[in-house]
Amino acid sequence: STPSSITVRGQTFPTDHWYNAPANVLATTSRQLHLQKDHPVSITRQILESVFPRPTFKSYNTFHPVVSTYENFDSLGFPPDHPGRARSDTYYINESTLLRTHTSAHEAQLFCASESDGYLITADVYRRDEVDRTHYPVFHQMEGARVWDRNKVPNGDIAAAVYADLEKLPKHNIKVEDPNPPHHEQRNPLQSQHHSAAEAEAIAAHLKRSLELMVVEIFTRAKAAAQKADPNYVDEPLRVRWVEAYFPFTSPSWELEVYYAGDWLEVLGCGISQQSLFINAGVPSQLGWAFGIGLERIAMLLFQIPDIRLFWSTDERFLSQFRGVSDDLSKLKRFVPFSKYPPCYKDVSFWLRSASAAGGNSKANAHDWHENDLMEIVRDICGDVVEDVKLVDEFVHPKTGRRSLCYRINYRSLEKTLTNAETNEMHAKITAALVEKLGVEIR
Ligand code: PHE
Repeated sequence: STPSSITVRGQTFPTDHWYNAPANVLATTSRQLHLQKDHPVSITRQILESVFPRPTFKSYNTFHPVVSTYENFDSLGFPPDHPGRARSDTYYINESTLLRTHTSAHEAQLFCASESDGYLITADVYRRDEVDRTHYPVFHQMEGARVWDRNKVPNGDIAAAVYADLEKLPKHNIKVEDPNPPHHEQRNPLQSQHHSAAEAEAIAAHLKRSLELMVVEIFTRAKAAAQKADPNYVDEPLRVRWVEAYFPFTSPSWELEVYYAGDWLEVLGCGISQQSLFINAGVPSQLGWAFGIGLERIAMLLFQIPDIRLFWSTDERFLSQFRGVSDDLSKLKRFVPFSKYPPCYKDVSFWLRSASAAGGNSKANAHDWHENDLMEIVRDICGDVVEDVKLVDEFVHPKTGRRSLCYRINYRSLEKTLTNAETNEMHAKITAALVEKLGVEIR
């Protein structure tokens, strides 16, 4: 029942045998929560944009979500066998067209256009993923990039120009643990064929200060909101640290982590842009840094929103709590959860189809079991009614070697108490779909 073409935000694309984007995911492409006034995702975008002002930075908020595999992967240096390209992880329209998995998909086109010294791209991104309170197949990212042009800075001295720009940035007084973590020489090399170590160091320093300032802005606002909710609130000093990371399109690369609620929380990925991006974009004299940050995670922490499904709610009890904040960010306050409805847990246990039993007509066998396929069946049938799905038991038969899995599904609506009949019906549909689509045998 694959349609021969599909239309996303006014543009029509042909499908082929790679098509795997379900209707409920495609429907979200029109929502654009990051542009909806007074929506927490949009408010979070506004706060982050305020840290990177015009005219240095120019914002792009309406790029179309359907991009080519070239834009999403190849232009960024992803190797042909990178796991992110798999159909189990990414929503394809056809073999060379997909729903972007990250805002980095638009970097190359902006470097080509060369319209400013800085870019901010906010957009909806799509990934096949697990079902729980912090994962949703659609979320929003902001990409930021800052570039300098060798031909435009005084005496062609990039390091001096970058340090001069760094001087103009505000200072902060937070404690940065591990400001310069060691980086792996082979996997995360300095790009010594394109720029000097001193230039890389200058750009890294500018990158780190800029992003530390962004975190300070977020946490200052989160603290103000916490104090409004509880005048006795005592804040702990903000602790951040840099850790090494790997991205095909930056080197070296880092993640910025913030100590939050007893744990180190990863808030963004970043690095010094691969020179190949600028060379391919026809601007080889440019160089600079880039970062990517997920907005829902930041919004959950700013507003204390407990469940990612809430962002998609059109319930007034949710939306009314943010009214007026887009026009006056100082009105930002914590979300007050409305009562939770009771959970209803149901298990499903099944044998994976054994490798030898997988005949020619089987859709799935033990070797190509992807948990995300189960997650998607659940989302397809239940929409946002399932709060999470967890693997609770795994077992390999000692004689046959067959694998059995047991998943626990938590049925809990954000809007009402589900009846037994309703949950039973959904559970039966899921069970049937697992047999039909994934070829499992129910135990
Ligand atoms: N696109 C990366 C991600 O989605 C984040 C990133 C952006 C990393 C820009 C480095 C530079 O994980």
